[in-house]
Amino acid sequence: MGRKFFVGGNWKCNGTNDEVKKIVSTLNGVEVPSEDVVEIVVSPPFVFLPLVKSLLRSDFQTAAQNCWVRKGGAFTGEVSAEMLVNLGIPWVILGHSERRLLLNESNEFVGDKVTYALSRGLKVIACVGETLEQRESGSTMAVVSQQTKAIADQVSNWTNVVLAYEPVWAIGTGKVATPAQAQEVHSELRKCLQQNVGGEVAASTRIIYGGSVNGANCKELAAQPDIDGFLVGGASLKPEFVDIIKAAT
Ligand code: G3P
Repeated sequence: MGRKFFVGGNWKCNGTNDEVKKIVSTLNGVEVPSEDVVEIVVSPPFVFLPLVKSLLRSDFQTAAQNCWVRKGGAFTGEVSAEMLVNLGIPWVILGHSERRLLLNESNEFVGDKVTYALSRGLKVIACVGETLEQRESGSTMAVVSQQTKAIADQVSNWTNVVLAYEPVWAIGTGKVATPAQAQEVHSELRKCLQQNVGGEVAASTRIIYGGSVNGANCKELAAQPDIDGFLVGGASLKPEFVDIIKAAT
């Protein structure tokens, strides 16, 4: 079976109650390809998750932007995987570069988080990506492979994992990876999955691209054989998110 196109909207730390209601109402009114063709997931900040879930159309899903590495308890400020499950939130984004870099989340810590979230029944959008320095020093493949391997070392069933390649230098910069650059890394990530988990997982796992995706560049990226969708930041807060969803067809 082919890999179903996946489009995630990562709203990051943005939005007020009113703005969130407005975005959801816009999304609820748009025409998009059917659920058989594209899986659509929006990820508001934690505090808006219940509101978004209650208002959002039923063919769109929700994701949290993070969750704690183990069972909840005395961890002030954290949100547990159990809480997300309890609220009926099916997805969580883990290992985003903003957390890896700003909050020092290591490869192993991200691997632990992915493992725990999956064990609780959440589906995971696991992010990997290199910094500009790493790309310029020629270590892109080594960096993203190590990040992926830290997950693969612990996770053998990838049915509920989507891997997001997000080069740090392309995030929020307007400097999108070229289709060839993205395809090269995606194909390498698939090889990495093949070597570390197996051929079937490599063939069936969706590898999506994130980093300055917009309505104008999404079609060409989506045409690459190993790009199975997008994780969208800035443009997911705008009406052009719908154009990106339509790149599925
Ligand atoms: O997770 C999405 C992301 O980091 C890309 O952000 O704003 O470059 O689309 P943006």
